[in-house]
Amino acid sequence: MLTLGVNIDHVATVRQARKTIEPDPIAAAVLAELGGANGITAHLREDRRHIQDRDIRLLRETVRTHLNLEMAATEEMVAIALETKPNYVTLVPEKRQEVTTEGGLDVVGSLEKIKDVVDRLQSANIPVSLFIDADEAQIKASAATKAKFIELHTGKYADAPNPEVQQKELELLKLGCQQALELELRVNAGHGLTYINVYPVACLPGMEELNIGHSIISRGVLVGIERAVREMKLAMRGEL
Ligand code: PXP
Repeated sequence: MLTLGVNIDHVATVRQARKTIEPDPIAAAVLAELGGANGITAHLREDRRHIQDRDIRLLRETVRTHLNLEMAATEEMVAIALETKPNYVTLVPEKRQEVTTEGGLDVVGSLEKIKDVVDRLQSANIPVSLFIDADEAQIKASAATKAKFIELHTGKYADAPNPEVQQKELELLKLGCQQALELELRVNAGHGLTYINVYPVACLPGMEELNIGHSIISRGVLVGIERAVREMKLAMRGEL
C-alpha cells in the first residue's frame, strides 16, 4: 500500500516567523494523523529555522503513526536521532542559504561518511533512507551503504517547465525505482509534489511512501480561512 508522510515543517515556519507558540506543529501532526496521514515527517535543520528540538521530543511522544526525522549527516544530528529514536531517519543535504532542500545527497562523493552514519543509526534499530536524485550511480552507492530506503527527489519532475520534460523526469523516476528495487532498496519519494502532479508518481511500481509538505499545508491554510475568520468574528462578540 502506498503511504503518505505529511511534512509539518511549514507549520513551524509560520510559527517561527513570529517566534511565538502558534501554530504548533505538534497539533498539526495530530490533525494530519486524524486525516489519515500514515506518517509524520519533520526536518530538524542545523540552523533551527523551523522545527525546534522541543518539537522533535514532543513528536516522538505524540505521533501515533511513524515519525520520519529528516536531518543532515552531522554528529549533532546523529546524537539527537540516537536519543529520540524516530521510526526512521532520512538523510538530506543541507546548505544554510537554501530556501528548501536543493538536490539530492551526494552519496557517491561522501560514501564512507554516509556509510558510517547509516551503520550507527541502523545498529540502533533506526532504519535510514537516503534522499537522492534518480541517478544510477547514486542508487548503487546508496545500496552500498546498506541503507534500507532511498527517497527519490521529485523536485525536477515537479518543477519541469513543460509536459515533455516532466514526462522525461517521470521516466527517470520510474527507472530509478526499478534499479533501487533490484538492489533491494525500499523506495520513497518526495519534494514539490502537489494535488496536480502527485498521481503519476503515486502510480510508479514499487513506490512505498510519498513525503509531502508544502502543498498540503498551503491547502490547509486556504481551506481553513473562512472558518478561521468566522471564529474570530465570534470571538470579537465574546461568543467563542
Ligand atoms: N522529502 C524531503 C527529503 C524534503 O526535504 C522535503 C522538503 O522538506 C519533502 C520531502 C517535502 O517537500 P514539499 O514540502 O515540497 O512537499
